[in-house]
Amino acid sequence: MCGIIGYIGERKACEVIVKGLKRLEYRGYDSVGVVTEEKGKLYVKKGVGSVDEVVEKLKLLEMPGKRGVGHTRWATHGVPNDINAHPQRDCTGKIALVHNGIIENFAELKEELIRKGHRFESDTDTEVIAHLIEEELKSSGNFEDALRRALLKLKGSFALGVVYTEEPDRLYFVRNESPLVLGIGKGEMFAASDVPAFLEYTNKVVFLDDMEYAIVTKNSWVVKRLETGEKVEKEIRTIDWTLEMAEKSGFPHFMLKEIFEQPRVLRDAIHGNAKVVSEVAREIADYDKIFIVAMGTSYHAALVGKYLFQRLAKKVPIVEDASEFRYEFEDLVDENSLVIAITQSGETADTLAAMKLAKRKGAKVLAIVNVVGSMATRIADLTLYTHAGPEIGVAATKTYTTQLAVLTMLAIELARILKTENRERLDELEEDLRKLPGLVEEILKMNESLLELAKDLKEKRDFFYIGRGIGVPTALEGALKLKEISYIHAEGLSAGELKHGPLALIEEGVPVVAVAPNGKTFDKMLSNIEEAKARGAYIISLGSSERLREVSDVFIEMPKLNELLTPIPYIVPLQLLAYHLAVLRGNNPDKPRNLAKSVTVE
Ligand code: F6R
Repeated sequence: MCGIIGYIGERKACEVIVKGLKRLEYRGYDSVGVVTEEKGKLYVKKGVGSVDEVVEKLKLLEMPGKRGVGHTRWATHGVPNDINAHPQRDCTGKIALVHNGIIENFAELKEELIRKGHRFESDTDTEVIAHLIEEELKSSGNFEDALRRALLKLKGSFALGVVYTEEPDRLYFVRNESPLVLGIGKGEMFAASDVPAFLEYTNKVVFLDDMEYAIVTKNSWVVKRLETGEKVEKEIRTIDWTLEMAEKSGFPHFMLKEIFEQPRVLRDAIHGNAKVVSEVAREIADYDKIFIVAMGTSYHAALVGKYLFQRLAKKVPIVEDASEFRYEFEDLVDENSLVIAITQSGETADTLAAMKLAKRKGAKVLAIVNVVGSMATRIADLTLYTHAGPEIGVAATKTYTTQLAVLTMLAIELARILKTENRERLDELEEDLRKLPGLVEEILKMNESLLELAKDLKEKRDFFYIGRGIGVPTALEGALKLKEISYIHAEGLSAGELKHGPLALIEEGVPVVAVAPNGKTFDKMLSNIEEAKARGAYIISLGSSERLREVSDVFIEMPKLNELLTPIPYIVPLQLLAYHLAVLRGNNPDKPRNLAKSVTVE
């Protein structure tokens, strides 16, 4: 949950590193640090604050040297302060490193190192690594060897960037269960937690796998196995993301830009999967024991997937939050199981752990992922990409709707293969799916009116989001968007549940957001709305029926659609409402407090 960037070449390293850190800030933003090297001397500057603040305060752009590494921190061990910021160093001050991940056995290692005379400055688990390498170096004399031996003693997750003064022509990068990618330039090399950090300079990348390390000079790179030190053949991949795609393009926040990108990325997701979805559907069509695992917003996509699979392919998947799946289903997953993992980042620790368990048990694993080459894609037997481009805002928006597009395509394809639905109906559904990007474009025109609505609602303390059937996940996701960025309490629930308890909380003026498309539960939904209204609720509804308009205080008119296609367009106004409420309340929606973009610890 931290960001790492490294550079070696002919440019001023601090400039490349600072730019990279700004693009990585979404990964962690409580403190920042940089180490550069010149003429065998390390220059280390680090402190608490955002990248801009620390750059200004510590004059990071005046650091000498043409190689170095930088870090934005999201604290795990040790409070955010200047000393705990990375880089961390050994006793000699010759080794400096930055780390993303958690070292689980750091306390034992630290105790042993202290007994051997090492002096620690920080409370971090990271500092242990620097001292451990120093210790190994005493008996080895060879840095690469010492690095390997030290790292093999670690338990936990780590992506590292390492500088050693005595080897002035190189940098070391290591990956185990935390993302790290090399950027291959001409006469210069980069490494980072994520591609946008160096995309301005190169789009040629090499993804490291778990337990691999890279030795990078300005003109060369090599990747080796940590256990053996043997060279690994790696493929250079070309990333087709432009820098503009990775930046804000004039929007005040990444989140708003990403909401507005949805028509385009939905088209990409639909086109990009046209062929591959049928291949994947053929491979999975025979499985009846299906699990869908994911976390957070991706979990809500999984719930939509469940309805789609049930209604179209007549398959009944078990949807489980990945952090629970590992413990609850360990004995139930087997070689007859299909496990579908949905993860935007492809790096969510709980989802990866669930996938690894599934693989161990012999299950077939399909990943639905946004980040090309991420860990999830390397664990899975099959991958479908959402083609949403980089999502920088912490709150998932475009990656969610593209996940839904991919799941819809998959369910349609399965239904075709299994002949569980009338052919014409499926063709029609597919045709309507292709129209959704255009409809979302229309819905985005409501932005101004949603801002006005947000102004009316900004002092409210509690929101309820209700839905039925395939509308339930939309209610859950609408509530999650609101709470995570506006910090307003929100609950998403099935409308039927309302009178089994939550109705007690409804009083005069409490907003109830009703997700109410036309469909088989519409009449029931109207009754639930009436129940809330009778207790004074302020009804904000989304739907396309005149009857709904009549019972609502605010009616957000949606296009008339097959109910199964409503999750994509219906979430868009709810994303915008949450965004405006967050901004009106003075929050930065791109960086909600306490949250990080990819949750790489369990
Ligand atoms: C909420 C949000 C999170 C993620 C969750 C899973 O807006 O973004 O709830 O959906 O952390 O992340 P991925 O999809 O990367 O596995």
